[in-house]
Amino acid sequence: DYVPVPEDRFSFGLWTVGWQGRDPFGEATRPALDAVEAVHRLAELGAWGITFHDDDLIPFGASHQERETQLGRFRKALAATGLTVPMATTNLFAHPVFKDGAFTANDRDVRRYALRKTMRNIDLAAELGAQTYVAWGGREGAESGASKDIRLALDRMKEAFDLLGEYVHEQGYPLRFAVEPKPNEPRGDLLLPTVGHALAFIERLERPELFGVNPEVGHEQMAGLNFPHGAAQALWAGKLFHIDLNGQNGVKYDQDLRFGAGDLRAAFWLVDLLETAGYTGPRHFDFKPPRTEDVDGVWQSAAGCMRNYLILRDRAASFRADPDVVQALADSRLDQLARPTLEPDETPAQLLADTSAFEQFDPDAAAERGMAFERLDQLAMDHLLGVR
Ligand code: GCO
Ligand code: MN
Ligand code: MN
Ligand code: MN
Repeated sequence: DYVPVPEDRFSFGLWTVGWQGRDPFGEATRPALDAVEAVHRLAELGAWGITFHDDDLIPFGASHQERETQLGRFRKALAATGLTVPMATTNLFAHPVFKDGAFTANDRDVRRYALRKTMRNIDLAAELGAQTYVAWGGREGAESGASKDIRLALDRMKEAFDLLGEYVHEQGYPLRFAVEPKPNEPRGDLLLPTVGHALAFIERLERPELFGVNPEVGHEQMAGLNFPHGAAQALWAGKLFHIDLNGQNGVKYDQDLRFGAGDLRAAFWLVDLLETAGYTGPRHFDFKPPRTEDVDGVWQSAAGCMRNYLILRDRAASFRADPDVVQALADSRLDQLARPTLEPDETPAQLLADTSAFEQFDPDAAAERGMAFERLDQLAMDHLLGVR
C-alpha cells in the first residue's frame, strides 16, 4: 500500500521533476523534460495536479504561435490524464532583467514589465482552472544596505499585490494569491523572509482576503524556525492557502530534498497538523531530485515524496488513535489548553476579585507538577518509527 490516488491531492511543480540539475557550480546532468511527458508520468504515479511558472511551460520569449502550440499539447495531456492545474506562478527571477527584483526593482520600467508578465500568466492560470496563484519573490531583496530602501520596496510590493488583487477581482477570477516566504537565496536577504513577515504584510493590503501564504518546509528551516509551528499559525490566521512540501537539513542552502528527507520529525508533525486541522488544499511538492539522479531517479524521487507523505499520514493517524496517547495527552493537560483562561464574559474586575487566581494560588505547588511531555513524545517517536 501507500499508493497515491488523486483524492490525496498531491501536486508537483513542472520545474521540480523537470529540474536538470544545473547549480551554481555545475552544468545540467539531465536532459530537458517535456511538459506533456511530465503530465503523463505524474498521472501514472498517482498525482492529482501539476503546477508551473509561465516560463516552465512556454519558453521565455516564445512567439504567439509557439505559445499556442505548446498550450494545445499541454491541454490535451491534461484532458487525457485527468490531471488538474491547481496553481500557477510567475518566473520573476531567471531572466537577468530581474537581477535587482521584479515588483521591487529600483527600475520602474522593470516593475511595470513584471506586473504585465504576471497578469498575462494569471489569465492563463484562470483559464486552466487554477484556484491559487503563488508569488515567490526570488529576486526581491538585496546584498547591501543602501542599495535598497526596504520601506520603499515594501510600498512597491504592496502596490503590486494591490494591483493584482484588483485585476483578479475585476476579471471575476476565482483565484487567490499565496505569498511564498524565503529568508535568502538567490538574493543575500529576501523581502518577506518568513511566514510571520508575510502574514503581517498581507494585513496591510487593500484586499487581504485574497492573500494567504505558501510556506515551504525548507525555507522556514533555513531560518532555523519550526515549520509545523509556522504552518499552524498560518492555519490559525485562515491563511494557509497552499503549501510547498520538501526536505531540508537545518540552516544551510536551500536543499529542496524530497518530502520526508531532512527533518523527519518535523515532517511527521506537519502531516499530523495538516491531517487533523482540516487543511483541504493541495499537498504540493516543491523539491529538486538531486543532480546525481538520472531520469529514472527523478521519478523514484517524486514517488518517494508521495509515499513518505502517506506513510507519515498513516503513522500520525496511529499515534492519534492509540489509547495510551489519548491518556498521555490528558496527562499533559492538552484538554486544559483547549479551555479558555477566562469564564465566558469574565471582566478584568472579576478576575481581580477571584482570590483563587492569585491570593490563594500557590505557585510553588503548581510548579511541582510535571508536564509528562517526554512520555508523550516517546509515544510519538514509537509510532513514527513503526514500533507501535
Ligand atoms: C525555492 C522556491 C521556488 C518557488 C517557486 C514558485 O525553492 O526557492 O520554492 O521553487 O516555490 O519558484 O515560484
Ligand atoms: Mn526551496
Ligand atoms: Mn517553493
Ligand atoms: Mn523550490
